[in-house]
Amino acid sequence: MRIFASLSLAVLALASLTAASQPPAKAPAPPQVVAQTPPMGWNSWNYFAEKVSDKDIRTAADQLVATGMKDAGYIYLNIDDTWEAERDASGVLHTNAKFPDMKALADYVHSKGLKIGIYSGPGPKTCGGYEGSLGHEEQDARMYAEWGIDYLKYDLCSFIPEVMEKQATNDHAAQMRLMIAAYAKMDKALKATGRPIVFSLCQYGWDAVWEWAPALGGNLWRTTGDIDPTWDRMYAIVSQQEGLEKYAGPGHWNDPDMLEVGNGKLSLAENRTHFSLWAILAAPLLAGNDLPNMKPEIKAILTNRDVIAIDQDRLGKQGARIYSDGEVEVWTRHLTGGALAIAVVNAGSDRYSTHPFHLNLAKLGLHGPQSGKDLWTGKTVELTENQPLELASHDVLLVRIAAPK
Ligand code: GLA
Repeated sequence: MRIFASLSLAVLALASLTAASQPPAKAPAPPQVVAQTPPMGWNSWNYFAEKVSDKDIRTAADQLVATGMKDAGYIYLNIDDTWEAERDASGVLHTNAKFPDMKALADYVHSKGLKIGIYSGPGPKTCGGYEGSLGHEEQDARMYAEWGIDYLKYDLCSFIPEVMEKQATNDHAAQMRLMIAAYAKMDKALKATGRPIVFSLCQYGWDAVWEWAPALGGNLWRTTGDIDPTWDRMYAIVSQQEGLEKYAGPGHWNDPDMLEVGNGKLSLAENRTHFSLWAILAAPLLAGNDLPNMKPEIKAILTNRDVIAIDQDRLGKQGARIYSDGEVEVWTRHLTGGALAIAVVNAGSDRYSTHPFHLNLAKLGLHGPQSGKDLWTGKTVELTENQPLELASHDVLLVRIAAPK
């Protein structure tokens, strides 16, 4: 059908060309459509930090395919900071010895059916002290496009002391304008390449970035400082997301930072809760774990299709915390077709296993018993008003109700 439609279009185009007997004006470039659902992939920072190399990225590409993560949707393979060397006399930024040939690496990643991301920043230096893009935005963007880059994380760092504070000392409004202009400049440079490149803003959620980032072309923006693989940090970040749900939607997402699933000493319950909440938050799912040594139970979390489907729901409506009762929090997310996801999180101690928490369905706008699927056991569950729930410390109940009443 589609082939037929394009054939007829081609015939029509040919006919009009002959009629006018001169070449038609060049068609305008189609608008870039990226990140219609929150980007999914793997980023080098949380596991490798500054040690990442070409070899690690190739291994990650192989692993994304071999583990089934690619098939589950993890498409972007993103190189974070520390790939950069110095600029030459023409301003061309070279890669350092860890990344001998970025074009060849991008080709390799693409050959696996994946996309490749890279990292820079608007300041003279990146957060790791490597070369930034200040004054070379167009040149860098063109180089990324030539390499075949599909995603750019653009990290503020040295732009704060070196540009904002120097050029607009003590004038916070002027500093903010400089920052916004710097992000707009790179967005324009990326668009000018004609290559669809996801633009990820990393400035730690300052100056209500969610209010201005979508308008300047940001596809996602960090809403907080850096995550680390601890329950306390992960949950502190979650608490900072309240009220931001109205800013997210297809093409533009709040980014509570990359996943720590499988890292540090997070328990299985904590990993499940972390992943469930990122799905409720319509957050980008950028894993950052040790792929070659991924334990089966971590793979099972990262590739849980039902949970991924919540995150990737086409409606693109970020969920919200509806109420809390002691240390138990209840979140919901509205999904395509009127479905609803409910996450009940025990952010506190084990005492809710001995003194059950009672779920209040009415507070969630639900009337009477509801039938749903527990996305971590795969079993059908019935939820009733005031139902006692037993949740271990830091664990989650994640239920999808296809037809809420
Ligand atoms: C900042 C960012 C991190 C990471 C490092 C790299 O801290 O927030 O995600 O990119 O820089 O230097």
